[in-house]
Amino acid sequence: MAILKIARMGHPVLLQTAEPVSDPAAPEVRRLIADMIETMHDAQGVGLAAPQVHVPLRLFVYRTGAATAAALINPELEPIGEEVERGWEGCLSIPGLRGCVPRAKRVRFRGLDAEGRPVSGEAEGMAARVFQHETDHLDGILYPMRMDDLSLFGFTEELARAAEEAERKAAALAARGDGAAAAPQQPPQP
Ligand code: NI
Repeated sequence: MAILKIARMGHPVLLQTAEPVSDPAAPEVRRLIADMIETMHDAQGVGLAAPQVHVPLRLFVYRTGAATAAALINPELEPIGEEVERGWEGCLSIPGLRGCVPRAKRVRFRGLDAEGRPVSGEAEGMAARVFQHETDHLDGILYPMRMDDLSLFGFTEELARAAEEAERKAAALAARGDGAAAAPQQPPQP
């Protein structure tokens, strides 16, 4: 296995439409998947698409929650319902940044697993978000291209600092509010 070099935003490979995998059981596809999983873990990502490692093929690897990493080859997604959810995303090809991206809350997916067996199902929340983010990579789409409010795009470090500050202010306000409620001022006695 090997750690692969990750393409960063600006590299043309990230803007290409990737080609379907014609032989999912081919040894080179298995090796690619194993290397991509190792690369994803090494970079502490939750998903990695083949074009991000300079291979313009339709497959990605992912992990959600505590689940071990898996692959989806030639994925097809379809939103379930109209519900859209906004959530923060990062991308190994856009290091150090985060953005708030609207995505379908629930999706139906199908494709092939790492062994080339057909898989299908429904995903929601974080898993649905990861699937949409990674499938977008196969169509040359990066998450900033999906954003509808670029004021919610920034460096992870600054966003974390701002969130901490906002939390501190809110806590201080709440404490002041509670204090006033707990100890109402007595009207002056005549
Ligand atoms: Ni990404």
